[in-house]
Amino acid sequence: MAATKEQVLAALAKIPAPDGGSLTQAKVLSDIVVSDGKIFFSMTVDAAAVKSWEPVRKRAEDAVRALTGVQSAMVALTAERKAGAAAPTRPAAAAPPRHAQHGQQGQQGVPGVDAIIAVASGKGGVGKSTTAVNLALGLRDLGLKVGMLDSDIYGPSLPKLLAIKDKPETIGGNRLKPIERYGLSVMSIGFLIDEETPMIWRGPMVMSAITQMLRDVEWGKLDIMVVDMPPGTGDAQLTMAQQVPLKGAVIVSTPQDLALIDARRGVSMFKRVNVPVLGVVENMSYFLCPSCGTRSDIFGHGGAQKEAERLGVPFLGEVPLHMTIREKSDAGLPVVATEPDGPHAKIYREIAAKVRDQLTGGPSAGRSAPKIVIEA
Ligand SMILES: Nc1ncnc2c1ncn2[C@@H]1O[C@H](COP(=O)(O)OP(=O)(O)OP(=O)(O)O)[C@@H](O)[C@H]1O
Ligand SMILES: [Mg+2]
Repeated sequence: MAATKEQVLAALAKIPAPDGGSLTQAKVLSDIVVSDGKIFFSMTVDAAAVKSWEPVRKRAEDAVRALTGVQSAMVALTAERKAGAAAPTRPAAAAPPRHAQHGQQGQQGVPGVDAIIAVASGKGGVGKSTTAVNLALGLRDLGLKVGMLDSDIYGPSLPKLLAIKDKPETIGGNRLKPIERYGLSVMSIGFLIDEETPMIWRGPMVMSAITQMLRDVEWGKLDIMVVDMPPGTGDAQLTMAQQVPLKGAVIVSTPQDLALIDARRGVSMFKRVNVPVLGVVENMSYFLCPSCGTRSDIFGHGGAQKEAERLGVPFLGEVPLHMTIREKSDAGLPVVATEPDGPHAKIYREIAAKVRDQLTGGPSAGRSAPKIVIEA
């Protein structure tokens, strides 16, 4: 029998808040999401009192986990600054000083993971998740051990793009095992919530969930972790760019947007938090006729590369708008895995090689544009 919301609340009522009152009376609890034996909720507390709340969070998590029928519990502490209060001590809520060296600000690497990179876009629907998956597979084909984290909490796409229906196993009650697919270790918030579950996640809670997906998942040894970011450059994305210890970011754009403001916003967001932009991928760059193979440069050609140069970031390559990419992607059969000898897989592998070179300073690094140096 699965635990109910009422049982969770009853367990939480027995836990004292720092002021001695009951946790359920403290007005800090979010909605409690109960899904398939998995429990999630957040506690939004005053930033100045975060330290005294951490043991309460831990007790709450343990108490919920101990309930019959509970497989796993995830309790996130989120700090909210009261108007007029002092700056929060939690890095999640504060922009880093302009000259901060990236990697400070309380960011810890994920043990065993050599490099974490983000795949981001200035706006939604440009093919970011499709690119992220095929890029990850391209990196895999270079002999790297690759993980993928779907940090798009509002619209997780990895369960669909990788046709994953299983739920991750828990290890020792409080750690999750990533799901293995096509040689990638994959974690998505989408594995833990049903599609029908209302998206109650609010901005600050998103970050705690991401932090937990980074740290409470048994990633093992990875050469590289590819993070599929939520679209846009709002607060949630900025916070994420600050909090996840990123080695670099890949910006996906369609040609018509490149000339516009969105991609530029993406680039400047990462620059602002001192994350090197590894380059821009132009997706749906040209139309490749599925029947005759004729290429049509619907949006003109070469604009993206020029724009990338203007932005001072490397150009990683162009991916055509093609039915096969769409069909395969939406069916959970990404082209790099399922048509490894096809023309699209080749393009993604070339992009992957450039990304790797940008990270390691390998052969193609800095060829198309000077490598971004962390600005002091
Ligand atoms: N190169 C391509 N050719 C054809 N279809 C594509 C291509 N890239 C992506 N698509 C399709 O476009 C749609 C949007 O792609 P995707 O979900 O990857 O975008 P996204 O930027 O991650 O979107 P969101 O902002 O919603 O997260 C999907 O149906 C996908 O299959
Ligand atoms: Mg997406």
